[in-house]
Amino acid sequence: MNDLDTLVQAAQQAFADAPTPAELENAKARFLGKAGQLTELMKGLARLSVDEKKSRGAAINVAKQQVEAALQARRDALAAGELQAQLRAEALDVTLPGRRRGTGGLHPVSRTMMRIEAIFASMGFDVADGPEIETDWYSFTALNNPENHPARSMQDTFYVDMKDAEGRWLNLRPHTSPMQVRYARAHAARHAGRQPMPEVRVIAPGRTYRVDSDATHSPMFHQCEGLWIGENVSFKDLKVVFSDFLRQFFETDELDVRFRPSYFPFTEPSAEIDIAFASGPLKGRWLEVAGSGQVHPNVVRNFGLDPETHIGFAFGMGPDRLTMLRYGVNDLRLFFDGDLRFLSQFK
Ligand code: DAH
Repeated sequence: MNDLDTLVQAAQQAFADAPTPAELENAKARFLGKAGQLTELMKGLARLSVDEKKSRGAAINVAKQQVEAALQARRDALAAGELQAQLRAEALDVTLPGRRRGTGGLHPVSRTMMRIEAIFASMGFDVADGPEIETDWYSFTALNNPENHPARSMQDTFYVDMKDAEGRWLNLRPHTSPMQVRYARAHAARHAGRQPMPEVRVIAPGRTYRVDSDATHSPMFHQCEGLWIGENVSFKDLKVVFSDFLRQFFETDELDVRFRPSYFPFTEPSAEIDIAFASGPLKGRWLEVAGSGQVHPNVVRNFGLDPETHIGFAFGMGPDRLTMLRYGVNDLRLFFDGDLRFLSQFK
């Protein structure tokens, strides 16, 4: 092997060993640079005769072309490697599953509220909404529940350490019954002097609060109040309306409804409404679903109406309880925990 072959091999080896483009350019300088080995050989030609110059020059040129070819090949290889590395670094894994957008659903208690509203609306009832922070007067006094009367302790009320602008103590309403008074007073004022006055026929669903917490009681729960006042509205109407509502709500006629005598300050007589299913897991068991009664004359007076000419009934039911019965849920707290594993079953 002559000196040129050795030089070409050394160059090829040096290029192959260069791991980066920068180091490849350094290696190139050692062979092809101004003071590189090939350049030095070219300079040496000057000392030779014309004939020797020709043959030696041609041989050096061949060697030079081989070195340049090796250099270019290595440059290409390094560039391709860099491209590959870059592509790898920026790789996009198109096999990753996309992010799904979950579809929401109505809360089971919201569904119940909507059913209650739709059924009573179909019977000509208005739907009213009212404040959850109430005054003492609306929550109790106006409902024939005088201060210091023991019946007030039927409700474990959350009192708010605050008075309204008129100096009245505030509470988180323990029931929706204050809405009877708010709605009927507004109705009486709106229709003042009209003979006969249009009937009051309203339901008032909403949130209510009591100091109470176990599997069937939650400090925040729902109620739906009902009120029907006219010149000749009787207990018989209450029985028909409420029984009809229950059969529509539970989508069955196989339902017994019982009015059990009870006591509420704002009604006289008062009744607890119980139901019993004729089939299913709760078959034959009496279940309490509402309180009701003929509105007490004192309360009718607080409506701004004359109890001699205006009479009717009221009821208050628990939509949470109705939801539990309709869907067979045995723990009320599930409704308010916000656990999607539970809630998504109602979608
Ligand atoms: N307000 C009562 C409660 O929270 C329920 C109730 C009973 C409402 C009788 C009424 C009624 O309108 O007439 O326990």
